[in-house]
Amino acid sequence: MITLKNITKTYGGAAQIQALKGINLTIDDGEIFGIIGKSGAGKSTLVRCINMLEKPTSGQVIIDDKDLTKMNESQLRAERKNIGMIFQHFNLLSLELIGASKDVIEKKVASLLDLVGLSDRAGNYPSQLSGGQKQRVGIARALASDPKILLCDEATSALDPQTTKSILELLQDINKRLGITIVVITHEMAVVKEICHRVAVIESGVIKEMGRVVDIFTNPQSQTMKDFVTSIINMELPAGIKNLGVTDQLSPDRYMLVRLRFKGAATSDPVVADIVRKFNVEVSVLYGNIDYIQDEPFGYLIVVIMGDMETQAKAFSYIKTLPIGSEVLGYVPRNH
Ligand SMILES: Nc1ncnc2c1ncn2[C@@H]1O[C@H](COP(=O)(O)OP(=O)(O)OP(=O)(O)O)[C@@H](O)[C@H]1O
Ligand SMILES: [Mg+2]
Repeated sequence: MITLKNITKTYGGAAQIQALKGINLTIDDGEIFGIIGKSGAGKSTLVRCINMLEKPTSGQVIIDDKDLTKMNESQLRAERKNIGMIFQHFNLLSLELIGASKDVIEKKVASLLDLVGLSDRAGNYPSQLSGGQKQRVGIARALASDPKILLCDEATSALDPQTTKSILELLQDINKRLGITIVVITHEMAVVKEICHRVAVIESGVIKEMGRVVDIFTNPQSQTMKDFVTSIINMELPAGIKNLGVTDQLSPDRYMLVRLRFKGAATSDPVVADIVRKFNVEVSVLYGNIDYIQDEPFGYLIVVIMGDMETQAKAFSYIKTLPIGSEVLGYVPRNH
């Protein structure tokens, strides 16, 4: 487990820059944890504090009950064997395993190259590798000391979408197969959506919000997180809905317009069918936006519940008892 307690970092010089302003964070073993933020937010500073490449100005970095901020350089060097790191830009040097025999090294290299899918490239020079292949070598190198933690600072930012996807799949595979805790630093919500279990959003050295990725996507709280979420999924009401003559006035000549929010196991079809079967109403779906976060569906449907006033109200009360989010958006004319 990684615990950051009240981490601050002020860069020296004439202009004192407070890059981190009291970060508190716990990352569980085996988790893929995303840290998202815009340029200059403090992401790289934060991730470099985790392995103490950057010394926090104050606060504690505790990994498996050991306080790294209290260690001397040689203790830190030993501790860093447990923490691999990959970057956006990388220098590929030969793989050095100090103190290991040639046999052991060869075996290790072969198994690492196999793990990252580069067995057929063992004899290549770095200049003969594509960006994605180089990043695979970067990952293999980071895994050479059998770390428990892998820190990735914008590891896919220089790659095209297809290659990004394959590298993210590799990271996910490493997490599943080896149980390594992965910290993913990114400015792209798509990366978070693809592989992260939890995410924290950082702005001007402060964590604005954090939580399970599924929860964040369905219900972001901070403006920063809302901006990131809407950058890849639109939760706004479609313009056409607003033109239906929606009012907040219930009357016998109007139908209830309802938004159903789904996440996880509760998917849309059974719910709609359920309401139709249980009540004397018809349900027409006006708009739907369902996406997947890893294997979990999430999104919403906008439906009109058609029946007499009393039955509509009963149907909605029933919807409220279901494990989905729901809200009445207003009432539309019967001939909507
Ligand atoms: N070595 C340094 N000396 C002085 N200031 C620094 C140093 N490194 C970073 N900063 C400043 O600290 C702040 C946070 O920088 P950091 O590199 O952590 O941001 P970031 O979120 O990683 O940004 P990006 O997405 O562009 O990589 C910025 O204002 C930056 O200018
Ligand atoms: Mg950075």
